[in-house]
Amino acid sequence: MRVLVTGGAGFIGSHLVKRLLAAGDDVVVLDKLTYSGNTANLPLDSVEFLEGDIAVAADVERAARGCDAIVNFAAETHVDRSILGATDFGRTEFFGTQVLLEEVRRSGQRFVQVSTDEVYGDLEAGGFSTEEDPLRPSSPYSVAKAAGDLHIPAYVRTFGVNASITRGSNTYGPNQYPEKLIPLFVTNALDGEPLPVYGDGKQIRDWLYVEDHCSGIELVLREGKPGEAYNVGGGNEHENIEVIELILELTGADRSLLRHVEDRPGHDRRYALSTEKLQRVGWRPSRDFREGMRETVEWYRANRAWWEPIKSGEFRRYYERQYAQRLRASTSSPA
Ligand code: NAD
Ligand code: DAU
Repeated sequence: MRVLVTGGAGFIGSHLVKRLLAAGDDVVVLDKLTYSGNTANLPLDSVEFLEGDIAVAADVERAARGCDAIVNFAAETHVDRSILGATDFGRTEFFGTQVLLEEVRRSGQRFVQVSTDEVYGDLEAGGFSTEEDPLRPSSPYSVAKAAGDLHIPAYVRTFGVNASITRGSNTYGPNQYPEKLIPLFVTNALDGEPLPVYGDGKQIRDWLYVEDHCSGIELVLREGKPGEAYNVGGGNEHENIEVIELILELTGADRSLLRHVEDRPGHDRRYALSTEKLQRVGWRPSRDFREGMRETVEWYRANRAWWEPIKSGEFRRYYERQYAQRLRASTSSPA
């Protein structure tokens, strides 16, 4: 099969690209190379790479020519950045997804929309989001993702396109841009920089190793039903502070680096997914959380050449804007 992977130069997309190549598929990547897109994530001699925008029909038409399927990862992906300004989020997530679906409507490719557990919103202790739950997004990022998702059932019903949605939980592993909790804290810990914990650090996320996320997406690509959504969750619920303690242990960094800083506005306390539906199709996550974290820390330790240039460029200006004031007003963590 020839597959167009949009956003394939980013973190999760680049892992799916390598997985599809290993399975014998031909791969085309269309990526705008925003701050988080990086061609160093890709085996450029094995894929056809096109720089372009999913919100531009001519770019999509050119990339999709001759493809049997499209998997859409392209998105603005950081909640904190969406709080600073969300215009690009709406353009890519809502309008860009529609442009892709117009291509699918015309040319008949199989389509998978890669979405997130954040569209279900904040969860009470004990509950699990199922695919039938209403969408209650609470950040500008998750609103944009939910808006993109809403196109899929509408295009399936109205035009009969062959499209499905995956909704993944918090993903970690090699090649993740160092703005998200795990790669930011691992690289800061390796550099002896402060670790800015939002609020009390007791927010809960369900952590999913990137290869497990990609095996779920691949299964939905090959066997998912039109109009259906499938949750992909790791079954690894942890408070942020537990994850951070593990990072301190695995990097050998000192606890004195921990700083409790002003919380993220509107911060969701907990996400958790029921994955029974995808398990019925045959999917299981295989990576133990501690083992996945150990491999991830080792990858960042061994690949400074990948992340050091990133952290000294646009990232530095973003970091100052996001954290400088918060860190000045921070308190250290109780021992
Ligand atoms: P990422 O930021 O590493 O990658 C996003 C990629 O999309 C980048 O390569 C970027 O250049 C590209 N892109 C952005 N706008 C584009 C546009 N208009 N046209 C073409 N390319 C564009 O993000 P990621 O963590 O790999 O996330 C990939 C997808 O998975 C996103 O849709 C995200 O919502 C979803 N997701 C992420 C997680 C997670 O924890 N990281 C969990 C669940 C779902
Ligand atoms: O749940 C899936 C989502 O996970 C994806 O859809 C998003 O693309 C991805 O960014 C991620 O969103 P989160 O907001 O959950 O991830 P992040 O890594 O930014 O934060 C994880 C938790 O850590 C969250 O409770 C906020 C907290 N945090 C984060 C950062 C960056 C901190 O305490 N300090 C920080 O500096």
